[in-house]
Amino acid sequence: MIKQQLDRFNRLELLGGATALEKLDRLSAWLGRDIYVKRDDTTPLAMGGNKLRKLEYLAADALAQGADTLITAGAIQSNHVRQTAALAAKLGLGCVALLENPTGTKDPNYLGNGNRLLLELFDAKVELVENLDNADEQLRALAERLRSNGKKPYQVPIGGSNAIGALGYVRAGLELARQIEDSGITFAAVVLASGSAGTHSGLALALSEALPDLPVIGVTVSRTDEAQRPKVQGLAERTAELLGVEIPASFKVILWDEYFAPRYGEPNAGTLAAIKLLASQEGLLLDPVYTGKAMAGLLDGIGRQRFEDGPIIFLHTGGAPALFAYDSLF
Ligand SMILES: Cc1ncc(COP(=O)(O)O)c(C=O)c1O
Repeated sequence: MIKQQLDRFNRLELLGGATALEKLDRLSAWLGRDIYVKRDDTTPLAMGGNKLRKLEYLAADALAQGADTLITAGAIQSNHVRQTAALAAKLGLGCVALLENPTGTKDPNYLGNGNRLLLELFDAKVELVENLDNADEQLRALAERLRSNGKKPYQVPIGGSNAIGALGYVRAGLELARQIEDSGITFAAVVLASGSAGTHSGLALALSEALPDLPVIGVTVSRTDEAQRPKVQGLAERTAELLGVEIPASFKVILWDEYFAPRYGEPNAGTLAAIKLLASQEGLLLDPVYTGKAMAGLLDGIGRQRFEDGPIIFLHTGGAPALFAYDSLF
């Protein structure tokens, strides 16, 4: 049902096929628990990551509307802004981004290396702002300014997380469900980072129809359960509405909010340990803002027996370019 509805939407084919679902052999042996990783860190544009899936739908919408500029917003080290700017370059569109410094750091590598460096290479125009407390409004004002200069801007929300963007993760959920069915394995859960919520909402919506017994656990990277829950639930509802489907009865928002402290953009000891463990055991690069926190949750969840029996899938959403902005912590 969701699949037929999804096929009605315009999509730019940028992924070139399914990302791999692979077992992490050494980590699994070390933990005594099988861990698989869904490699959305390997999407093909500009060092990869989850946002390309959302942008397949958002950029198709932008082109259909005749836009000549993608505008968006995020942290100085935003992976979302990096992938949006790269796609704008690939499509011959302009890109303007509003950037905030969420921790107030003055570390020169945070301010100029990692994702921020790549924005220069993609020719994105950057405007630094005090904060993004009213991002939609701030982007609307930017769009108005660009229109008065003759541009045709298309507003990509923070994280690409509106219903159109979330379609990318509905599609990812169907793709993952097929891979799980092909594997013949009964998994205990899927674990992912839950931020602006499009990834979580889209994935959980699709999986709740395709594999209703499989828990989808969002490890929050910036908010408490109480603050994040309405975001995930609300976006899932808007995405289902856009698709013209009912939310399946088995749809459930599961959040673990013990791993994001002290705040967004600032890793804790568990984050850093998870990054080091995956790098040293598997040669796999996590990031300090999203996947390091989500993996810390997965590892702690195993220790505290928070999962049912069975192998666990980690959705690797990318972010490794930010490592070069956080080098002083390692
Ligand atoms: C590497 C990485 N993982 C996870 C996320 C979270 O995805 P979402 O914002 O859809 O919740 C992001 C968002 O920017 C990200 O860059």
